[in-house]
Amino acid sequence: MTDLRSRLRAVPTLTGTPPDWDPSRTPETPHELFVDWLLSAIDQDVPEACATTLSTVRPDGRPNARVLILKNVTADGWQFASSSTSRKGEELATTPYAALTFYWIPLGRQVRVMGRVQPATPEESAQDFLARPLGSRAEALVGRQSAVLADRADIEVATKQQQDRIAADPDLVAPNWTLYTLHADEVEFWQADQDRRHLRLHYHLDNTWKKELLWP
Ligand SMILES: Cc1cc2nc3c(=O)[nH]c(=O)nc-3n(C[C@H](O)[C@H](O)[C@H](O)COP(=O)(O)O)c2cc1C
Repeated sequence: MTDLRSRLRAVPTLTGTPPDWDPSRTPETPHELFVDWLLSAIDQDVPEACATTLSTVRPDGRPNARVLILKNVTADGWQFASSSTSRKGEELATTPYAALTFYWIPLGRQVRVMGRVQPATPEESAQDFLARPLGSRAEALVGRQSAVLADRADIEVATKQQQDRIAADPDLVAPNWTLYTLHADEVEFWQADQDRRHLRLHYHLDNTWKKELLWP
């Protein structure tokens, strides 16, 4: 039997087709380039192009990471939403710094975004909450994300209760639902190259945005 190491070595990586891209002809700010890359990914039907890995820091200093959905990007920052009482919410309350990692496989592109995270106003968070589908709103109203689940049947009961509350009051908002903005101070754009001369463009904020190329 082939051992696992050999099986893994045989799995193809960097299978995408990188678009033409000249890092010396790029916008002055990273969010402009990011939106350009994100829209290319969406236009080219990259699966779940808005999914991103959010890395946070636990109170004991260890890293933690999970996938979530990007909600918006502006010059102000990258937005995502979650419960402030989840593990990630508690980690962000203790250490308000995070990283987002995007990987668009068919395009051979990775983007890393780092910076300080700030919760939006309750009004903005409520707006995001009310735009979510019923099932997601009910689950957030249960408000127990990341708590220990004693019995799977408890989900059904708790969710049904919250769906009934929403039916009675469609404007109900989960108090812990929070829209967060990551104010980037570093963003790296990475594009695969067949000869392993991968392209890396790093932006960092030093009063104004500065750009430099990095060795692959
Ligand atoms: C594709 C995908 C999208 C997700 N989107 C979100 C999201 O937008 N917000 C969220 O709180 N969790 C989202 N999750 C679930 C998180 O990965 C995670 O399990 C959950 O937020 C609990 O994380 P925590 O215990 O670190 O707080 C998503 C998971 C996947 C795989």
